[in-house]
Parts: sequence; structure tokens; C-alpha cells
Amino acid sequence: METKNEIKEQEEFIEKVKKINSNKNLKYTIITMGCQLNENDSEKICGMVEEMGYTKTNEQQNADLTIFNTCCVRENAEDKLFGKLGELKRQKEQKGLLIAIGGCKKKKKHITDKIKESYPFVDIIFGTHTLHKFPEDLYKSIQEKRKIEDVLDIDGKIYEGLPIKREDKIKASVTIMNGCNNFCSYCIVPYVRGRERSRNPKDILEEIKELANQGYKEITLLGQNVNSYLRVENEKNIPYEKYEGIDSFAKLLEAVNKIHGVERIRFVSPHPKDFTDDVIDGIANSEKICKLIHLPLQSGSTKVLKEMNRKYTKEQYLELVDKMKSRIPNLSLSTDIIVGFPGETKEDFEDTLDVVKKVKFEQVYMFIYSRRKGTLADKMQNQIPEEIKHERFDKLKALVESQIEENNKKYIGTIQKILVEGTSKNNPNMLSGRTNSNKVVIFEGQKELIGNSIDLKIVSEHMWYLKGEIL
Ligand code: 5AD
Ligand code: SF4
Repeated sequence: METKNEIKEQEEFIEKVKKINSNKNLKYTIITMGCQLNENDSEKICGMVEEMGYTKTNEQQNADLTIFNTCCVRENAEDKLFGKLGELKRQKEQKGLLIAIGGCKKKKKHITDKIKESYPFVDIIFGTHTLHKFPEDLYKSIQEKRKIEDVLDIDGKIYEGLPIKREDKIKASVTIMNGCNNFCSYCIVPYVRGRERSRNPKDILEEIKELANQGYKEITLLGQNVNSYLRVENEKNIPYEKYEGIDSFAKLLEAVNKIHGVERIRFVSPHPKDFTDDVIDGIANSEKICKLIHLPLQSGSTKVLKEMNRKYTKEQYLELVDKMKSRIPNLSLSTDIIVGFPGETKEDFEDTLDVVKKVKFEQVYMFIYSRRKGTLADKMQNQIPEEIKHERFDKLKALVESQIEENNKKYIGTIQKILVEGTSKNNPNMLSGRTNSNKVVIFEGQKELIGNSIDLKIVSEHMWYLKGEIL
């Protein structure tokens, strides 16, 4: 109830800003960094901003408002932010561009301090926990012409009913839980996104039913630790609204599976330690849940996994993969791997390569370990020199690419069901879609096919995409 009133208050600010902006034909740009959760947050920011009278533009020079939705999981996103901010200084001075920075920064005080010191022209700094208050921040910034810093240091609540402007018309992401309680020793997420909290099953299902009514075909359930949905609530007896008997991730999947109109279901990112048998069976028994499962490995070395606080060993990970492969026909897996974690020896790295060879992932997201202030791993003494990290990264990349090439060949000549997503980004005369295993397929076809599932014959492979032909 409390959060409902807070949202009502923000609706009033939306109306006020809309009034100030009326007939001004204002434009905005948004720059999103980081994960799919951040992208989903950006869609909510866009929803609010568009209700306040701004229209989106891709031309930075035409913008009256620029919003950065940032990420601090790895260092390169931070560097990108500072580079872009430098570029905007002139536009700020000459045209009075309003600049807002939001996203994962809570407790990353050195970042907010750096912004305030080096980029004093930034108008608004807000955090993931204060995203819903953006209309108020913007109003105050415009009306009172003062700098706003609105980065809350408490664990966020769940806010329902924010307007949302979705990027896509076929695929939609739905955040089902926020925060993370795992504290992997390299990771800043538990500090910036706070404790785990799940949305009520009813709110999630109503959102997805509405999406299905609007014609969305593919739903991706999002959460930092998506398969521990409602776990904390159950363990700590935190009350939540009961709905259709849903008390776990497996039951939520089952309910989403029943929604008419939804054709494909994906979810990211699960944690291997929470991958329960009921979820495995649910995937096996569902036509709609895609058979590409993301299963973050991080390292193949039991010793490094322990230092990372991942709570599984190399063997347990491989056993889980075997169990999933034996129960789910046509399963393919993708993963996240970090190279160069403090103390990683040559043998530890070999263990990672060994797991990659054994599992034969469909896709591997590879990261060079990046020190994050405030995390346990940052305090470890045995940091790995940059050139060794890069050497290992290149070695892993070469292995992964050779496996992808090998794997791509298996598609040639097969018939694949493709959900057609739109025209190809690189060639507007071609259409683009994805297989169940999330591979991009480019093919010639009529635009009317967009939004439909069709069978294609795969004719060639090109590392990051396949080419297909209509049967
Ligand atoms: N350095 C490098 N990679 C990281 N990730 C998270 N934190 C770090 C870090 N400090 C990676 C993990 C995670 C993905 C989203 O980002 O692999 O699964
Ligand atoms: Fe970070 Fe680990 Fe939580 Fe994933 S599970 S968000 S890697 S702390």
C-alpha cells in the first residue's frame, strides 16, 4: 500500500513536468550499460520520460535530456560513462542539455564523488532503488534549477505500476526478483542492488498476460538469481500475496507456461546451486521453455570456486550438467566465465578449459576479472598481472570460437523453428529471427512474417549467425 502511494505521488510529478514541457517538442536520449535487468530498468525510465512529454531520438545533438543508466559490475562500463560525459560537456554549456545518471551505484561512493568532482555539470544522480522517483528528481531539477542526488542506501522495495516503454514488440523482459544474497567474492551486485526480494506471483502473471494480449511471443524472466525466486520469502517467513499456489520458481514457470499466446519462455540468470530438480523437470515437460539454459560457471577450478564463494565444485557443476542433459532432450547450455581471478594458477585455468571442453557450451560470455572496490576479492593479495589475464582470455576465446564453429556446423541442413523478430540490423532486405537455442538466423522473406514462428532450413554458418531458407 505504501509503495502504491509513492507511485501515486510520482504520477503527480509526471503531470507537473508534462505541463512544463507542453508544446516544447522536447527530445531525449538514453544510454544503457550492463545486463538485461538494466535494460529492463531503462524501459521503465523511458516509460516515465515519455509520459512527461519527451520523445526519443537517436541524434544526440537534438536531445534536451540525456539519461545514462549505468552498470558497475565491470570496470569498462565505468570508463565508458566517463568518456561519454566528457563529450556532452559542450552540449550542456551551449544548449542547456539536462543530464541524469542512474543505475548501479549505491555504496559506490567513489563513483558518485568522481562524477560530482570531475563532471559538476551533471544535473541528477539517482540509484536503482530510486528509479521510481525519477519524475520528482526531474521536476526539482527543472523547477528549482538545482543539482539532485537521490541515491538511497537502504534495500529497495518492489514498486508496481511504473509506466514502461518497451524496445521490442515480439520479445519482452519481466523482472521477477531484485537483488542478490549470494555475495560471490568478485561481485558488486549484492552491494548495489541490495538484498533479494521477489515480486508477487500475481503481479508477474498479470504483467505477462497483458504482454501476451498485446501480441508478445517471447518472455524472458529476469533476476540476479532468478531461480531463487521466493526462496528468501519462504525461508524467512516474509509474507507475500498467495496466488494459484505459486511458492517457487518451478511453480512460477509452470504458471507462465499456461499463459495463452506466450510461445517462448527464457530466464536469466540462474545460479547452479539453486537449480532444483522440479525446475529441471519443468523445463523438460514444457514445449515453451527454451532448451538453451544459461548456467554460469565462473571458473572450472574447485579451489577458485571456493574462493569465489560459489558454493559448488567442478564435479558438482559437471554432475548437474549431466543430470540436466539426461533429463532434457536437445538441451544446450550457455555460461559466464571469469579469467584471472586472484590466485588463479595455470592448473586452475586448465580446469576451466577442461569444463569448457566437456560441456561444449552453445555460447560463452567471457570476462577478464575486474577489481571492484568493496568486494572481498579486491582485498586478496594474489592479484593476477594484466598480461597473464589477457593471455588466458585469448586462449579461452580461441577454444570457445573453435567449439562454436564446430557446433554451428551441426545446424547446417537441419530444420529449425524460428521466431521472426524483425529485419536484420546489417541488411534491411533480410529478416532476422532466433532458434530455440537463441542462435540468430538471417533469411530472405516478407515482412509480414515478423512475429510468427516458421520453419527454416539452415544453409550456412557464419560464427555469430546462421543463414536459413524458407521451406
Ligand atoms: N570481474 C569480471 N567479471 C565479473 N562478473 C561479475 N563481476 C565481475 C568482476 N568483478 C561477471 C560474472 C557474471 C557476469 C554478469 O559478469 O561472470 O556472471
Ligand atoms: Fe553477483 Fe554471484 Fe549474485 Fe550473480 S549470484 S549477482 S555473480 S553475487
